[in-house]
Amino acid sequence: MSLYQEIVDREQKYLLNTYARYPIAIARGKGVYLYDVEGKRYLDLLSGLGVNALGHAHPRIVKVIREQVAKVIHVSNLYYNEYQGLLAEKLCTKSGLDRAFFSNSGAEAIEGALKLVRAAGHAVGGAEKCIVVALDNSFHGRTMGALALTGQAKYRRDFDPMLEGVRFVPRNDIQALHAAMDGSVCAIVLEPIQGEGGIQESSPEFLRACRAAADQNQAALIFDEIQCGMGRTGQLFAFQHFGVTPDVVCIAKPMAVGLPMGSFLARDHFAQHITPGKHGTTFGGGPLACRVALEYLAILEDENLLEQVRRVGAYFTQKLQELVETFEIAVEARGVGAIQALQLSVPGKPILEGADANRLLINVTQDTVLRFLPPFLLQEKHVESAVRILRKLLRDAQKQTNG
Ligand SMILES: Cc1ncc(COP(=O)(O)O)c(C=O)c1O
Repeated sequence: MSLYQEIVDREQKYLLNTYARYPIAIARGKGVYLYDVEGKRYLDLLSGLGVNALGHAHPRIVKVIREQVAKVIHVSNLYYNEYQGLLAEKLCTKSGLDRAFFSNSGAEAIEGALKLVRAAGHAVGGAEKCIVVALDNSFHGRTMGALALTGQAKYRRDFDPMLEGVRFVPRNDIQALHAAMDGSVCAIVLEPIQGEGGIQESSPEFLRACRAAADQNQAALIFDEIQCGMGRTGQLFAFQHFGVTPDVVCIAKPMAVGLPMGSFLARDHFAQHITPGKHGTTFGGGPLACRVALEYLAILEDENLLEQVRRVGAYFTQKLQELVETFEIAVEARGVGAIQALQLSVPGKPILEGADANRLLINVTQDTVLRFLPPFLLQEKHVESAVRILRKLLRDAQKQTNG
């Protein structure tokens, strides 16, 4: 039996049946490439769902991890460590926000932010000031609080009752936003670019209307930048790309480039309502993850990677646009920088399977959207090889569709 088959059989027997995995078992990676257990090389345009922004086995990341594990991995939040404050300082300086909390995942960052805005709401308007306005088609994570903010029935069904007090409005619908707002609202939460929802951007006008509505109602504006933040738009924070500053921003995925880590950053006005005992975590903000996150931020600067994301991202957009102009089944190119998508009029699964077979790793979301979350190391030549494969697959799919 092959090693691949052994791995699959063991997982099928012993793992909770949560993941419909693609038929590839990864053994290692280097730069923008991954290698499976048989040694086949794949161009990685997905970076572990937006995590591996520095590709794989970046020498500086390997070096700091080696150094730090030999010193200390974990100390708990009962004690100070050298790196948590440094990372908070760096993120606050870069974002203009005041305070940071470190978690272990995106969903946990959302949970913490939710507790923060509820506490702030209660302090200002009593227990009734607890409503959160969220968007249809959103995705904020799988834990119960994050799920309650997630505006997609398919993720929520089977798990009722949800956390109370969430109102949903359609993205970019300013009228519906205004109708949902009143003094009982403690926060508006949204992804500036919906990721799992198919790379759908909020308009700057809508974001400005959210900013104003939050201010008028003494509510917090929370941006979930877990997928679109930390450099993916070509700016460190997606809100800097849109020019609207939130009160709270949630980040995660590439923060510690593969070590589990998330965070929310908040303005003091809201942050002051969390005091010792109200929130916490055993693992969050440990010295290893914080040191790696600091190294990640340093590498972004030293290698001028955000400039590369903007340049290569613009080239990628242009190439996706050409596919839209060439193929009837490719209906729209969306996104920016290292968060892009090609909307199809047909199911994306056959294209994804074809891409895997051609050793190109991509993803499909919302059934008909090809999603690309490449590492920031991507260069024009990688875009060209990816587009060459996509072109061939789209040509075949279009022939099939036209019968
Ligand atoms: C926008 C957004 N929010 C929250 C999450 C949840 O993050 P995690 O899977 O780290 O819990 C995700 C994950 O994909 C996400 O894309």
